[in-house]
Amino acid sequence: MAENSKQTFYITTPIYYVNDIPHIGHAYTTIIADAIARYKKLQGFDVFFLTGTDEHGQKIEKSAAARGITPIELADQVVGRFKDLWEALDIDYDYFIRTTQPQHGTEVQSLFAKLKDKGDIYKGTYEGYYCVSDENFLSEDVPLETKGYKICPDCGKKANKVSEETYFFKLSAYQQALMDLYANNPTFVRPQSRMNEIVSFVKRGLKDLSITRTTVKWGIPVLDDPEHTVYVWFDALHNYLTGIGYKRDPGLYERYWPADVHLIGKDILRFHAVFWPAFLMAGGFALPKTVFGHGWWLKDKTKMSKSKGNVLDPHTILDSFGTDPLRYFLLREIPVGLDGNFSHEGFIHRVNSDLANDLGNLTQRLLTMIQNYFSGRFTDIEEEKETDIKLRTEFERAKEKIIAFYDDLAINRALEEIWAYISTVNRYLADNEPWILAKDETQKPRLARILYQAAAALRTIAYCLYPVIPTSSQKIWSLLDEKQALPERCFADLEFSGFDPNRILQKPKPLFPRVNLKDFLAEEPKSQPVKKEKEKIMDQVSFDEFKRMDLRVAEILEAERVEGTEKLIKMRVDIGDEVRQMVAGIATTYSPKDLVGKKLIVIVNLKPAVIRGIESQAMLLAAVLPDDSALIPFFQEDIPAGSKVR
Ligand code: ME8
Ligand code: MG
Repeated sequence: MAENSKQTFYITTPIYYVNDIPHIGHAYTTIIADAIARYKKLQGFDVFFLTGTDEHGQKIEKSAAARGITPIELADQVVGRFKDLWEALDIDYDYFIRTTQPQHGTEVQSLFAKLKDKGDIYKGTYEGYYCVSDENFLSEDVPLETKGYKICPDCGKKANKVSEETYFFKLSAYQQALMDLYANNPTFVRPQSRMNEIVSFVKRGLKDLSITRTTVKWGIPVLDDPEHTVYVWFDALHNYLTGIGYKRDPGLYERYWPADVHLIGKDILRFHAVFWPAFLMAGGFALPKTVFGHGWWLKDKTKMSKSKGNVLDPHTILDSFGTDPLRYFLLREIPVGLDGNFSHEGFIHRVNSDLANDLGNLTQRLLTMIQNYFSGRFTDIEEEKETDIKLRTEFERAKEKIIAFYDDLAINRALEEIWAYISTVNRYLADNEPWILAKDETQKPRLARILYQAAAALRTIAYCLYPVIPTSSQKIWSLLDEKQALPERCFADLEFSGFDPNRILQKPKPLFPRVNLKDFLAEEPKSQPVKKEKEKIMDQVSFDEFKRMDLRVAEILEAERVEGTEKLIKMRVDIGDEVRQMVAGIATTYSPKDLVGKKLIVIVNLKPAVIRGIESQAMLLAAVLPDDSALIPFFQEDIPAGSKVR
């Protein structure tokens, strides 16, 4: 295909704040994006992959001041750390945008001016509470604490009052257009559960958005009114346009806009799924196809974040194990939409069992046998028997699924499929016992067939793993004496039988280091997880006794952390005819903002309990996991609050 006739694919990561150095969470998003970009290239797409840094705003201004340096000095230092990490992680981005680069600034200024001329931006006064950590204006219904500040429902930090002249963006005018966007493009927000959250958020009504600050100096000044600096989110979101050179290089912009996937963490979904499309509509731009909000890596059950100080430095792992094990672990361990708990035990277990054992041993054993029995080159290969045909056709079946999962961004499912096939190959070798055949000279052609077949299978496996573990894949690829560089072959053309028997296979070298559990864990002293006794089934109750429990569908209207507790969330829930207050110990699994709009089952006639001085007038039903955390079954369907559950 000619370069210019290729279908394009434009993927972005968030641009990260430079208030502090990168951690596993940032690595996660960027690795997913890299894997998807590599996959799309294998599929023949013309790919553009954008990442970068968000360098303006009050948060950076404060961090720099605390260190006694200027914001740009801080930014320059931290940008270096991000770029180094991306290199260490084999991140193959096409452009790194910094919001302090002049071109971005001028473009944001002119986009701002355009909306102002159009009447979508007007001057007024903002009064409300601002969370510096999230750079977010709190919604009015967040309650005021007695001490005169509010608590940010998202990050739990103090939000102080601001009262200043500002320019507003007419967000309210875009409510219907946004609702139409969601209705007409059901995959605009993914996964589906997050789309539901966004729809119920917008349905509740949108207020105009303050998009300039006069009390923040570190920002892009508004043209003709430089006392005002542009609100950091208005500035930052436009990176997706300026990063492909909306004005700098119209060719790129024409070629790649609109973005195919904005990959982000669920923490910043509202900015991307509500504000961003509204800004774009106002500016007359085509809209991105999908905003994908992935889950969080938690450490000790709370979100890993710089401000909480519970972050893990990826370099600790990279220094001991290299890049591919970390990439593999992060992509394999959790489905892209869900949260996962990061533990070193979990990491070590995965790497030992999947990479060192399943894949590493297969490669090592197979290539060693090919060396020992055939000096690296097959001679006379017997015709395929049924078991050999099965191994080949099994790949064709697996390949279809792997492609479908990658296409759906379900990378962990693609990996599960690949590992299922690795097991099939390992079983094939175990069943056919090449080491026994090798003792009988007359069995040489049969032996050649088995080892050839397994090597052909290994080649396809290495190929399919390229998006996730590119370096190891290429190593296996070249051990198999594959001449064409791996990324140059199109996935669709990957054939099992493309493995030419007349090649010279190399002596294997161990691909993955064995993880020394003790050495590694020494860095992180861990308490032993408590093994719980199995819950016994309780005594029978009569149906009449059961009927006395009044179970209802409730919709969560508001949710917030109970200050000073680790587990408690206070909610207001709609149970049909009334709204109740409810307290539950679920903060280790859920953050308040993820709960709003969700529908679940509660019991409404249990005697109210008083928890930490707060009356709980309903109790929710949830599964209790072995570590005592709670998992709530939510309804996906749109059913009325108050519906009876029996
Ligand atoms: O929000 N688990 O920047 P940021 C998974 N500058 N992903 C995580 C994570 C975790 N524990 N912690 C962070 C900003 N991330 C803005 C974005 S975009 C126009 C502006 C990842 O430095 C995840 O992608 O706080 C999350 O959305 C992002 O880092 C937030 O990075
Ligand atoms: Mg953040």
